Amino acid sequence: MTDPARPVPPAQPVADGPDGDPTGPSTDVGRRLFFRQLAGEMLQGAATIVGMAEMLQRTSAEAARSILEEPGLPAGVAGTSVVGSSGAGAALEGLPRGFRTPFRWEGDRLILIDQRRLPEEIVEVEVRSAAETAQAIRDMTVRGAPAIGQVAAIGLAMAAGRLRASKPYARRATLHGAANALRNARPTAVNLGGAVDRMLARYEALGELSEDGDAIADGMRAEAEAMVFEATADHGRLAELGFVELPETGDRPLNVLTHCNTGPLACGQFGTALGIIQVAHHAGRPVHVYVDETRPYLQGARLTAWELAQAGVPHTLLADVAAGWVLGQGRVDVVLVGADRIAANGDTANKVGTYPLAVLAARHHVPFYVCAPMTSVDLATPDGAGIKVEMRPPAEITRFRGTPLAPRETEALNPAFDVTPAELITGIVTDEGVLRPPYEPALAAAMERSRLRRARPPAVAHAAQHAGEAGANAPGPTPPDDAAAGANDQGAG
Ligand code: MRU
Repeated sequence: MTDPARPVPPAQPVADGPDGDPTGPSTDVGRRLFFRQLAGEMLQGAATIVGMAEMLQRTSAEAARSILEEPGLPAGVAGTSVVGSSGAGAALEGLPRGFRTPFRWEGDRLILIDQRRLPEEIVEVEVRSAAETAQAIRDMTVRGAPAIGQVAAIGLAMAAGRLRASKPYARRATLHGAANALRNARPTAVNLGGAVDRMLARYEALGELSEDGDAIADGMRAEAEAMVFEATADHGRLAELGFVELPETGDRPLNVLTHCNTGPLACGQFGTALGIIQVAHHAGRPVHVYVDETRPYLQGARLTAWELAQAGVPHTLLADVAAGWVLGQGRVDVVLVGADRIAANGDTANKVGTYPLAVLAARHHVPFYVCAPMTSVDLATPDGAGIKVEMRPPAEITRFRGTPLAPRETEALNPAFDVTPAELITGIVTDEGVLRPPYEPALAAAMERSRLRRARPPAVAHAAQHAGEAGANAPGPTPPDDAAAGANDQGAG
């Protein structure tokens, strides 16, 4: 496995647009600009007018699509500058900033931003098989619970695409092998196993032993695409619902403390905890973020600080161990974190260091919110004791960029996650509303709402109307519904 501290093998940079222009074919530029503009307007509108989830859902999918289709951009173009003395990367003038999807799917290749190399440089790598996708998840080229779920689905779809001409039994063996490799790449995030299960269910529905390899490949591709679009819509809903939950601070800026990275890099399009912050920022609410550096992998320092800088959100980096001091000083209004797995009773696994933060927040009477889509909820696991915590290499703790931080031979324990007991969580912000204790009935009811929402036929006509030229053939986002009704759910079941 690779740690961000260690030099990584040279990646395969992705080629520029076909005409050598790094912004890609000029005919696409206008369309991309249009949808980027739309994304900014949409976020502003949705954030300022409660109940605009419908607009957010429709347009966020389109905005994400335009970004997903953006060709590889070298550093310094379209907001890809590294965070340095010059501060935020220089986004295209006048366009919304802060969106940076970590993956794009182009034909038979998946292009990933190598998150191990951020913030120093933006390097894109491409993977073409499920095995390569599993490796990219394992070595954290791509990370963050929602993102690895979506990427795993694409990995399986790519596998099916390579098996169009295979014999049914060979195809079945290969797809199940690929599913296992992807599922086991990282054990804690339920989004990963959930995505693999959903893709296998689609495969089964298409006919596991069908002779029609094209139908299977096309069907699985459509399923993976639908998952990416649904995630986009869900994260947009979540961000809006979380925004209205933020505490009032009068004339002064809201001070948020966050841990790890929960932005677009971790989620695909919009973020969860960081998505809420970005909505607040785009809505014109003054907000300042304390960013935990997030030892040992430094997702906070390397990724969250980078994303906030790109979005233009004021922020201050904090050593993890300084959180108690900052909270004790009364400098924090609210703590927002993500989740890798939320058990049926609300116990939540997230990046190691989240649990001590929750204890500190409770000690100082600061509200502590977990912000996660319903795809991070695991009702089959009754409580936190049943959550498997990934153990990562000790070298991530004992070394930094090849330099020893501890005497050679020092033993180190490196759990990548910890579990925060439900009793320390003020609320769980989901795409189905803000849930409150007792979490068991609240989560069960939210899951049922989510199931019903998914069961409705996609509003294809409605979506196409809003999609314009880019969306004509896109799978429709989840139909608009009772997002506002789900807000501030009291968890009464
Ligand atoms: O090990 P990572 O970087 O994949 O861990 C990520 C986190 O713990 C995030 O907080 C979590 O996945 C939620 S991302 C919205």
